[in-house]
Amino acid sequence: MPIAPTMTLNNGNKIPALGMGAVFLDSDGDIQKTVDTAIDAGYRLFDNAAFYGNEESIGKALKNNGIAREELFISTKLKNGHHKFDDACRECESSMRRLRVDYLDMYLIHFPCPEHGLYTEAWRALEHLHKEGLVRNIGVSNFHESHIDRILDMCEFVPAVDQLEFNPYLTIKPLREYLTAHKIVPEAWFPLGGPAIRLDGLPNPLKETIFTEPVIVGLADKYNRTPAQIILRWETQCGVIPVPKSSSPVHMRENINIFDFYMTQRELDFISGLNTGNRCGPSGDDCNEYWD
Ligand SMILES: NC(=O)c1ccc[n+]([C@@H]2O[C@H](COP(=O)([O-])OP(=O)(O)OC[C@H]3O[C@@H](n4cnc5c(N)ncnc54)[C@H](OP(=O)(O)O)[C@@H]3O)[C@@H](O)[C@H]2O)c1
Repeated sequence: MPIAPTMTLNNGNKIPALGMGAVFLDSDGDIQKTVDTAIDAGYRLFDNAAFYGNEESIGKALKNNGIAREELFISTKLKNGHHKFDDACRECESSMRRLRVDYLDMYLIHFPCPEHGLYTEAWRALEHLHKEGLVRNIGVSNFHESHIDRILDMCEFVPAVDQLEFNPYLTIKPLREYLTAHKIVPEAWFPLGGPAIRLDGLPNPLKETIFTEPVIVGLADKYNRTPAQIILRWETQCGVIPVPKSSSPVHMRENINIFDFYMTQRELDFISGLNTGNRCGPSGDDCNEYWD
């Protein structure tokens, strides 16, 4: 199975064009099997977060798999509530210990938490970690234009990525245009509309319709692909790096097997036309319930 192709970040470093979402929601808890299947299927980017509580088991599973460290792209995120400089540095080193690595490929600020006003201090910490060689690429998650503006005003290094909720129902076009203008690559969380049950325990209405949208089903028929493959290909053709989560070996292989066909611009625009602006998860401005 070929591995996922790469994209180039604003610092010249490479990043896989598609990654594996954290497996923290797995009910069977068989993370080793999930990680082994993902690596066999060609995934190299693993998207983690201290908040998910999965770093220990992912780190162990990656180590047990035996794949060479330099083949992997291990990414994790700074937990809310740890934006003060020393605290952020300590948190990063704790994540690295749990993940059993001596450097991270990517470290992101999970949420800006603007009410606390400390994300520029957290950014200084990430820059420090980068300069110390502990983190090869630094970025943000759930940052809107106003948050990134403040980072750009004070930064030494421009964020390499901004990881955001993104799928055909939430195309965030103005924010993506802003990111492109600043050479910041968007990554997509909830790229397939998210889990069947939302983080707040309620059923996720987007999940009930996203795979049966006529435009997506029509393109799936035309290209002899599944609706999930059409959605993920649309995302990568939009220049976004999706990190779909799956614990199903069939879905994992399906989700990465998307780089051998191209949809036309007109077809991409049809999918973008599904945008409703409805989000399923928290945005960068209302994330403070996650502050701890
Ligand atoms: N930065 C942030 O604030 C933030 C927030 C939330 C999530 N994330 C990241 O984004 C990742 C992805 O989010 P997510 O997992 O919740 O949402 P998602 O990837 O959009 O959807 C995952 C769901 O879709 C199903 N699925 C996957 N592939 C499929 C396929 N080919 N056909 C049909 N169903 C399929 C999965 O079930 P199966 O397991 O059965 O395949 C699972 O129920 C997370 O794992 C995490 O790494 C980041």
